[in-house]
Amino acid sequence: MLDQFMGGGTTLAEAKLLNRNAIGVDINPQSVLIAEANLQFQCETNSKILIRKGSAIDLHFIKDNRIDLICTHPPYANIIKYSQGIDGDISLLEAEDFLIVMKKAAEESYRVLKKGKVCAVMIGDIRKYGKVVPLGFRLMECFLQAGFQNKEIIIKKQHHCRSSSYWRKRSRDFLLLEHEYIFVFQK
Ligand SMILES: C[S@@+](CC[C@H](N)C(=O)[O-])C[C@H]1O[C@@H](n2cnc3c(N)ncnc32)[C@H](O)[C@@H]1O
Repeated sequence: MLDQFMGGGTTLAEAKLLNRNAIGVDINPQSVLIAEANLQFQCETNSKILIRKGSAIDLHFIKDNRIDLICTHPPYANIIKYSQGIDGDISLLEAEDFLIVMKKAAEESYRVLKKGKVCAVMIGDIRKYGKVVPLGFRLMECFLQAGFQNKEIIIKKQHHCRSSSYWRKRSRDFLLLEHEYIFVFQK
């Protein structure tokens, strides 16, 4: 399996426990170090785990139609910035620029995945100046335009959101965003 927005390597750790071979990619060298440390645990499986620093829009080291499963979790545009200026870090981009780059990431996902296999992507919506930005469905469009089909749309309730208690105590004229999507695309 492939997680091209690997972060600390949670998905890779699950892959290791499930005896799946896995590739993790992240633009941030700090994430690479953290993931490498997190993957050091011993278990009875003997899967191969490859961790690389790189960009989700350039997976040149993976040939076409090679991957059995993609399971990934990109940034939600610049809601959380994962670095302070790393070139190519899409967590530094406003929504529209983020979506342009994610279209390329979707095309690269389509290229490396085997036909008939699935690509699961977790993403949430964001709010800008009090107005909701439907980042989830905009991202879904990127993957559909890249050639994928929608297999499932899963709504994941978010518990213990950091900002919820802050906003609950204040008067506001908008609903809280307390869900994320897991889009399951099929090639
Ligand atoms: C939401 S986090 C992933 C969290 C991960 N699921 C975990 O369990 O730790 C998104 C990751 O995308 C990375 N990222 C940002 N731009 C990237 C790019 N162009 N290519 C690859 N990774 C990128 C960030 O460095 C961050 O680690």
